[in-house]
Amino acid sequence: MAREPSAPEAPVEPYRIKVVEAIALPSRAERERALERAGYNLFNLLSEEVYIDLLTDSGTSAMSDRQWAGMMVGDEAYAGSRNFVHFESTVREITGYPHIVPTHQGRAAEHLLLSQLAGPGDIVPNNMHFDTTRAHVMRVGAKPVDLAIPEAYDTTSRHPFKGNVNIAKLAALLDGPTGRHVPLVLVTVTNNTGGGQPVALGNLREVSKICHAHRVPLYLDMCRWAENAFFVRSRESGQGRRSVREIGREIFDLTDGATMSAKKDGLVNIGGFVATRDPGLAARLKEQLIVYEGFPTYGGLARRDLEAISIGFREATDERYLAHRIGQVRFLAELLDDQGVPFLHPPGGHGIYLDVPRFLPHLPAEQLPGQALVVELYREGGVRTVEVGAIMFEGSDPDSPPPLELVRMAIPRRVYTESHLRYVAEVVGRVWERRASIHGMRMVEAPEHLRHFTARFAPLADGPTAGPVRPTIPRAH
Ligand code: F0G
Repeated sequence: MAREPSAPEAPVEPYRIKVVEAIALPSRAERERALERAGYNLFNLLSEEVYIDLLTDSGTSAMSDRQWAGMMVGDEAYAGSRNFVHFESTVREITGYPHIVPTHQGRAAEHLLLSQLAGPGDIVPNNMHFDTTRAHVMRVGAKPVDLAIPEAYDTTSRHPFKGNVNIAKLAALLDGPTGRHVPLVLVTVTNNTGGGQPVALGNLREVSKICHAHRVPLYLDMCRWAENAFFVRSRESGQGRRSVREIGREIFDLTDGATMSAKKDGLVNIGGFVATRDPGLAARLKEQLIVYEGFPTYGGLARRDLEAISIGFREATDERYLAHRIGQVRFLAELLDDQGVPFLHPPGGHGIYLDVPRFLPHLPAEQLPGQALVVELYREGGVRTVEVGAIMFEGSDPDSPPPLELVRMAIPRRVYTESHLRYVAEVVGRVWERRASIHGMRMVEAPEHLRHFTARFAPLADGPTAGPVRPTIPRAH
């Protein structure tokens, strides 16, 4: 990808702002106190202690006026709500999956699907498991195996589809004696753990062929499917003239079902579903749903939430929205590139993933450099990010490559503007300039599972690690 010599250009928002929410940068002393109280784990910060929140793109989207209007026509009937009818018909129309089971979010869908399909001794391949998917595979006694292509593990490779599945490895797994222990294959679009990287349609066609030749069902983790389809259209040869909806539909047609967190490409604050073509499985999922989530026409959600999903699910396929969304991530990438900041290339669909070993080469893995960087970004400018690496993926399977060491800056959908992104780039740049003075961390408290959410940390060395902090007024360009 040749870089233009001109200054990075921000994409123009395809919306105007109707409601605002005040945010403020806490003082340096307040940030320091907040870090201490939080045990240096940014999941423990109060939202009010954060200036720009890039912790996640999940459930943090701004809903549109139409979605809010939809919330007002909630039909809160326990059974048979008209909002469910709208939700079901919308998801069916876009995905083509006949059986749609609503859930309160993505991990509830994973819980239902994996407890129905996988069990002790099974192997569940994926390009890369996200943390909750991995946890649900392990919870039922199965083994998660990551089968992304080798380029996915090289943060400098410019491969356009680093979410792709390693076809040779998948074929070997299914052909060998292990094949009969594989109850389903998962593909995550986009590959969140690997940098929000897309999966090519061509790759998915091959995965589908292999799975179906072995009579193994193929399920999508479709959280960011519209972003994936947008990348297919812009990067895959022969796809440039198709719409995101058409590409998405072909992706769905290649698979047997999916789990969805509508908190991403559903543009809502809560919600999800599991979808399948298998009527027997659908019946079992619904039985289980009633125990864990609620009746099949609401699945743990208020019915007005289902209405917001129906509308958001369509809005997420709007090409102007997607061009701006992906453009925002690329814009931040260009601002960071200009300062020489190392991050995973190419920039993904929902955020920038800083490359920790190249950012803090003086800190060995046991000094938790990813956590140290997350802490410094907050300390410097009140920016909240998350470590995606050894802390998040502890105890990873020895058959899968070790996780990449990344710090994710996820961009919420339709929330931040150009000047916010410029501010973030400036904060990262200041931390980058003083990187050599950054100390490591140690973990002082950790739960057994999904430890990144609640672990507590302590700095390894005392003393100031930050330079003077100036409140920044984003510069016009
Ligand atoms: N699958 C993927 C690929 C995800 O990114 C997530 C959530 C889930 C499943 C679970 O969905 O949160 O609705 O239960 N990812 C969020 C993130 C939390 O920050 O990346 P959920």
